[in-house]
Amino acid sequence: MKKHLSVISLSMLLFIAAFSYSFKAKTVTVNNKIVVVPDDAATKYAKGFEIYKAKCVACHQLSGEGVPSAFPPLKNSDYLLADKKRAVQQVLNGSNHEITVNGAKYSIAMPAQVDNYEDAVAVINYVLNAWGNNGGTITVDEVKDIEIKR
Ligand code: HEC
Repeated sequence: MKKHLSVISLSMLLFIAAFSYSFKAKTVTVNNKIVVVPDDAATKYAKGFEIYKAKCVACHQLSGEGVPSAFPPLKNSDYLLADKKRAVQQVLNGSNHEITVNGAKYSIAMPAQVDNYEDAVAVINYVLNAWGNNGGTITVDEVKDIEIKR
């Protein structure tokens, strides 16, 4: 029975390890349990990280790598890093035209995701700095002239 249980907990650990690795998240072991450590950006831009997990992961993935041919990457994206304000506009109003990200074309529409400047700036500041991105930050004052089309 004891052996049986340890096989189960070992497979659980392996599963959690594989799961965390697939997100390339940092992990530590505490009391024999593997715990995912949020990266620096997740801690520093906590509000943006929460919005990202709630609204963006389904398409852009927790790893920020997107899905080839469907959803573009945000990690190391030349398109994102070239224009912070356009990214804020993208989450406020969506985007529905062909774009090229790191040399690959994407043409599925992205629906609007948030309805106010604060949330848009929070999530964009998170993605600008997550996964090794070094994209700087943007402020609400810099985006207030974007018309929110709703
Ligand atoms: C339903 C899927 C979906 C969701 C949810 C989604 N996106 Fe997108 N995103 C897309 C698609 C598709 C494109 C390409 C749009 C186009 O071609 O006009 C895109 C493009 C982008 C781009 C510009 C291209 C790039 O890769 O740099 C940014 C920035 C972006 N999304 C950020 C976000 C953020 C932040 C969220 C959450 C607040 C989000 N997206 C939620 C599908 C999605």
